[in-house]
Amino acid sequence: MRIAVIGGGYVGLVAAAVSADWGHHVTCFEKSPRRLRQLQQGECPIYEPGLPQLLHRGTASGRLAFARDIDVSVHDLVFICVGTPSNQGGAAKLGDVFEAASSIGCTLKANAIIVVKSTVPVGTCELVEERVRAVAEGKPFAVVSNPEFLREGSAVYDAEHPDRVVVGAREPAAAERVAQLSQHLNVPILICDIRTAELIKYAANAFLATKVSFINEMANIAEEVGADVTTVAVGIGLDHRIGGEFLKAGLGYGGSCFPKDVQALRHVSRSNGYRFRLLDAVTSVNRQQKARFVRKIGRVLNTLDGAVLAVYGLSFKPNTDDIRKSVSIDLVRQLCRGGAVVRAYDPVAMPQAERVLNGGVRFCADPYEAATGADGLVLVTEWEEFRSMDYARIRELVRRPNVFDGRNFLNRERLQGLGFAYYGVGR
Ligand code: UGA
Repeated sequence: MRIAVIGGGYVGLVAAAVSADWGHHVTCFEKSPRRLRQLQQGECPIYEPGLPQLLHRGTASGRLAFARDIDVSVHDLVFICVGTPSNQGGAAKLGDVFEAASSIGCTLKANAIIVVKSTVPVGTCELVEERVRAVAEGKPFAVVSNPEFLREGSAVYDAEHPDRVVVGAREPAAAERVAQLSQHLNVPILICDIRTAELIKYAANAFLATKVSFINEMANIAEEVGADVTTVAVGIGLDHRIGGEFLKAGLGYGGSCFPKDVQALRHVSRSNGYRFRLLDAVTSVNRQQKARFVRKIGRVLNTLDGAVLAVYGLSFKPNTDDIRKSVSIDLVRQLCRGGAVVRAYDPVAMPQAERVLNGGVRFCADPYEAATGADGLVLVTEWEEFRSMDYARIRELVRRPNVFDGRNFLNRERLQGLGFAYYGVGR
């Protein structure tokens, strides 16, 4: 099939590269001149394991190309993969989605299917249909909702091994054509109406965010009663009705999806006259989790004022350079506000962090430089390299041997054996 992908962000690039790998002919339209230039020169504009290789394979095979101006006159399927950031009130901003819809409508091939992969509030696909119809001059087309469930850091793997595929459509024939794209994956394909598909995406992210806030509240109780939340998580996760994933207690969720999508669902609920109280609590627990950790550091060190802290990890999670709504960036700001001197290190996200964290933070070339003279090591993002560092050497470099493990990621016994005082979350 000939596929057009509108938007060269995480979702769009991965969808384009994977579709080309599956044998389709793909054109990815990207409106940022800088990003487009990078893509056309064979550079991958984001840090995402496996993606540069896949993009290269696609362009080398001649099945993947990049362009600026949207022209979908030869494409059977058009994927909308543009961003939907939130506005002040938490609602999703749909300007890019609608702009894409209008551009698509102008050059659409008859009987093409427009596939909305961006995360959009319930009812948006219908609005996309209206926008396209207004300019499509009577040409027949269908709009299908096909939400994307990939995670940053493992986006290519997730796109190639999804747990399920959701296709929301009005016409069964359109649903079938979109479902066919994933037939070879041998995973459940759920075909439903458009609004239900749109809601499934929000429900999935909201539920996962709820799991994270739930285990974080359990961690806070575990600390009070002298239990270990990591073992509580194992103990409940072995119940298959609960499941063991997304029960890692820590500093809460960040990233470009959970915070935005939880707010958007709260907003959709409010504007439909319903208050989603559970999500109000999920949000406030997530906010408090970082503040609680900052207080803990201050308590152990007596004061944050003047304390030197080595902060490990700046991206919102490992294996990505994405710092959008990163817990670490927020935490660093809180530490600096308390008067701490922050020495930060991240394997890939330093250039991004340097652009947003001004003053008060020293960016270090490696974790050892960050540890030098520190009163505490603060692990915020669980990059694998932080597990296997030479902690005996770090013990020699620090001023005071304190480890604040915000993700319960490090080997507590080993660190204690080296003479560090270890502080985790909920243990
Ligand atoms: C999330 C979802 O997992 C994807 O399924 C979805 O497609 C994506 O949002 C999206 O809507 O585009 P992502 O934001 O890449 O993916 O990252 P996650 O791995 O879900 O992590 C989100 C946040 O939760 C991170 O800050 C992570 O540190 C935190 N988290 C996750 C925890 O604190 N504890 C956990 O047990 C799991």
